[in-house]
Amino acid sequence: MILQSGFQIRGIFLVMVSLAMVGCEAGGNDPGHVYFPDMMYSRAYETYTTNPNFGDGKTARKPVENTIPRGYTPYKYEDTREGYDSAGQHLTNPLKVTDHALNQGGKLYSIYCGVCHGPKGKGQGSIVKNGNYPAVPSYEQRLPKITEGNMFHSITYGRNLMGSYAEKLSYKQRWQVILYIQKLVKVGQFAEETDTASAKAQASTDTTNQE
Ligand code: HEC
Repeated sequence: MILQSGFQIRGIFLVMVSLAMVGCEAGGNDPGHVYFPDMMYSRAYETYTTNPNFGDGKTARKPVENTIPRGYTPYKYEDTREGYDSAGQHLTNPLKVTDHALNQGGKLYSIYCGVCHGPKGKGQGSIVKNGNYPAVPSYEQRLPKITEGNMFHSITYGRNLMGSYAEKLSYKQRWQVILYIQKLVKVGQFAEETDTASAKAQASTDTTNQE
């Protein structure tokens, strides 16, 4: 009797183990046995499936007209020559020069721009040097001829061989990068520092001359 129930227990145990093993037999797209189907399978409509609740039968909805995503700043200048000129005249950097902005700008610059423009902005980035990309103009030559508004416009839409960075850098990040580049090349807000410095130097030379 004792022997028999021992066999029985062992038998039940074996059945349980094999059931458990079968239950675990998941693989690929097969999740095995599902105990809570409503947790396993979302009851919400999948993005690209049909949906009887909407007139057009689509689950993926377009944003409501005249709305923008949270945190998104619209850009009003068009991707045209006129847009470029107009941004150049009217658009200015809303950010203050801070260590934080410059640090962020520097990080973003080395991630997104340095490969072409080079660490110092001389157009000698790694892919230009190894011959995989045509020449990139140095900032020193180009930037004194354009405004920060032009820079922002070009970074937003891209320019000739350079692609757009609107998807990669937020509005604020684009301005942070611009601050960093301006400091690097001493143009824009950073030009005054040198101008005043050289004006002072000039003035002191003048006095020396007069003396
Ligand atoms: C794949 C190479 C490449 C990368 C990466 C790149 N650029 Fe450029 N960039 C160029 C080239 C080429 C030009 C010259 C475009 C022209 O005027 O034909 C240029 C021009 C510019 C100009 C001058 C625009 C003008 O209006 O004349 C600015 C400012 C600039 N880049 C900023 C950036 C910033 C900021 C980044 C990173 C967010 C960046 N670039 C990333 C290739 C690149």
